[in-house]
Amino acid sequence: QYPVASLIAPHAKLIPVLHVEDPDRAEPLLEALVSAGIKILEVTLRSACGPEVIKRMRALGTDAIVGAGTITKPDQLASVIDAGAEFGVSPALTPALAEGARLSGLPFLPGVCTPSEALFAREFGFFEQKFFPADLMGGLGWIKHVDPLFPDLKFCPTGGISDDNSSQYLALRNIFAVGGAFLAPRELIEAADWQTIHKRGKMSVAAAAR
Ligand code: 3PG
Repeated sequence: QYPVASLIAPHAKLIPVLHVEDPDRAEPLLEALVSAGIKILEVTLRSACGPEVIKRMRALGTDAIVGAGTITKPDQLASVIDAGAEFGVSPALTPALAEGARLSGLPFLPGVCTPSEALFAREFGFFEQKFFPADLMGGLGWIKHVDPLFPDLKFCPTGGISDDNSSQYLALRNIFAVGGAFLAPRELIEAADWQTIHKRGKMSVAAAAR
């Protein structure tokens, strides 16, 4: 009902979870990732300038899909929609946030980490969910266990995803993408090390396709 998976290119299922403190980093960061083969990005609201970063990335006019992450309150939805976010992600879900996301019309990926939370989100119409924090909550095993229980749900795990496990997650039927800071760690963004981000991005795209 609020599909995010349909925004994701079939061969570009890696979503960098970005923490950007300086809006001037927006353009070179997007370029470093897009030229590495990344086609979808999540700019988190962990910094106050998140919406500005989204706006500046969208203004570049690339075909990359730019969304907003770490949405925890319904009143954050309007500002990211104004900035041009094409989807939203939350680490967890409340009734107010679910209702706000539904009313906003923004494709939305709510965070869940237990079977009950997965059902709670499904009752609000969310059939695509972020499984977070994946590494701490059971990782691949959790995803495999819930598949026969909830065959109508699809997940994007984040939390502890890396080049060592991305392809294992992506091989599962009920996974539509994986996300994480590993695709552009905050330290490298702060250091403006676009070359390393680009090089590592290419390696991650290759590792995910293994
Ligand atoms: C998220 O919000 O999705 C996580 O912070 C990503 O987790 P990671 O930092 O382990 O990639």
